Amino acid sequence: MRIITLVTQKGGAGKTTLAINCAIAAERKKKRVLILDLDPQASSEGWYQDREAETPRLAKVDSWALPEAIAKAQAANFDYVVIDTPGRDEPSTTAAIRAADFCIIPCRPTPVDLKAVPPTVATINRLKKPAVFVLTQTPARGERVREAEAGLSMLGIVSPVRIIARAAYQDAHGAGLGVIEYEPEGKAAAEVKQLWDWIVKKMEKVAYEQETNIS
Ligand SMILES: Nc1ncnc2c1ncn2[C@@H]1O[C@H](COP(=O)(O)OP(=O)(O)OP(=O)(O)O)[C@@H](O)[C@H]1O
Ligand SMILES: [Mg+2]
Repeated sequence: MRIITLVTQKGGAGKTTLAINCAIAAERKKKRVLILDLDPQASSEGWYQDREAETPRLAKVDSWALPEAIAKAQAANFDYVVIDTPGRDEPSTTAAIRAADFCIIPCRPTPVDLKAVPPTVATINRLKKPAVFVLTQTPARGERVREAEAGLSMLGIVSPVRIIARAAYQDAHGAGLGVIEYEPEGKAAAEVKQLWDWIVKKMEKVAYEQETNIS
């Protein structure tokens, strides 16, 4: 089982959107996924309430209950636990990073978002967790995205797959769906599938390196 934490203290960066859509991308590959919602605002849980399908499973947890929730997920043979965290720096955020095998830091290509990244990266580095950045809500092209990518690449690995600003993400969320379900042939579905494939490869490579002590 792999534990993936979506984290950044910047509100609205796309943690919940990525958590849900990555979970559904993993399900498409026949994996069993549990989303743990650590956000007191519970926007993943809100999405789950609107959803008809029973999977991916979702549970709302307080940070003190996180280790137990993870142990139960392990016992129940989930392949992935995806943790959605609050958009503020809270003890629960640190607990979610500590629990992670792999962290995903969503970031919009704006100066304010970029400035908010270093404290999250500092916590991740202190806890020695592998992490990648994913640019989110980006324009389809342009200088702004390239500059943001250059800035983030000084701090760590940046996903080559970007999540573009598309209405499909909002409409799918409102319908209790992931974009892969909402518009299977759409551009959002295609980029989420690509992103998930890239994340899995990266995560497995890091895990292999850690297990064999290569770095
Ligand atoms: N790629 C996208 N295109 C268009 N809208 C998006 C995209 N990603 C996210 N959004 C919208 O932006 C808003 C914020 O996204 P989301 O809730 O995923 O961020 P968050 O990091 O979880 O926020 P918080 O810190 O408040 O939990 C939501 O309304 C969401 O629907
Ligand atoms: Mg959220």
